[in-house]
Amino acid sequence: MTNSAERIAIIGGAGQLARALKARAQAEGLDWVGLARPEIDLERPETLWPALDAAGPRLVISAAAWTGVDQAEAEEARAHAINAIAPGEMARWCAANEAALLHVSTDYVFDGEATIPYPPDHPPHPVSAYGRGKLAGETLVRERLGRHLIVRTGWVYDGEGHNFLTTMLRLAAERDVVRVVADQTGAPTYAADLASGLLAMGRQVLAAADGSLFGTFHLTSAGVTSWFGFAEAIFEEWAARGHVCPCVEAISTDEWPTPARRPKFSVLDCTATQDRFGIALPHWRGGLSRCFAARDEA
Ligand SMILES: NC(=O)c1ccc[n+]([C@@H]2O[C@H](COP(=O)([O-])OP(=O)(O)OC[C@H]3O[C@@H](n4cnc5c(N)ncnc54)[C@H](OP(=O)(O)O)[C@@H]3O)[C@@H](O)[C@H]2O)c1
Repeated sequence: MTNSAERIAIIGGAGQLARALKARAQAEGLDWVGLARPEIDLERPETLWPALDAAGPRLVISAAAWTGVDQAEAEEARAHAINAIAPGEMARWCAANEAALLHVSTDYVFDGEATIPYPPDHPPHPVSAYGRGKLAGETLVRERLGRHLIVRTGWVYDGEGHNFLTTMLRLAAERDVVRVVADQTGAPTYAADLASGLLAMGRQVLAAADGSLFGTFHLTSAGVTSWFGFAEAIFEEWAARGHVCPCVEAISTDEWPTPARRPKFSVLDCTATQDRFGIALPHWRGGLSRCFAARDEA
């Protein structure tokens, strides 16, 4: 059994990662508390203090964010408040209360012009308002709190909620042909796998006395593919379950203009996470099969 010296606060409501973290924390029998709207509103960071005071965690996991990448271009100030000011406030609370903060960040802090996987110390250069806000959040966390773990991930999906997988399944019911970008590369990361890895990192941080585990790390599935490759794999799984699937047509980013620019190469080097924590996520294709299996059971 855990005790309050190991209490974890998971910040985030019905988001895909927050849900997966809470399910995993429950399954592992951890001492955890979830903090979400309406109790806290990250656009009003002052709501964090009373909620965190009442929860009294030793570790805060920040899994809530403004994730509307395109909408952030038009509403950068709001995205900045949620993705930068709010985690900065969490860091202040943790500093005042001798707690640690595990803050989830993104591959979008990089410009995607690299050709080999990004290590955590590669200079960031966001190309979108969302990326700028998330980078500003990282900076505030680093400035205000030594006991921080910033973990960047990418291409997160789940079997429900709003994400690439559920969008593909919706389109499968509506269209004969689905056009998908084939020149952006990343590692699709199943929210449940990510949640397991993050909680394992968090538990090690709680157990380590010397602070040697703090810093910036990367955690995604192993392997890489394109959105096109990911769509094909999704439809493979869907067809295996007896559904009629659309034809997937590969297109370029230029053929799919969006308000926000996306990094072309979003592959994160997770070696440091493996070396320091002994944690590596499984290959993305296996994660997708397990995600479908979990959907089947639900
Ligand atoms: N999705 C990706 O592909 C991806 C890639 C890289 C990094 N990340 C990072 O991973 C983390 C989790 O993302 P996700 O995919 O789980 O996102 P998501 O499914 O869009 O969920 C966003 C979460 O943020 C919460 N939230 C948004 N605005 C809030 C506010 N004003 N006050 C309180 N809570 C608020 C939502 O709460 P409600 O339930 O109340 O709406 C929800 O729980 C984020 O830090 C994100 O930047 C995601």
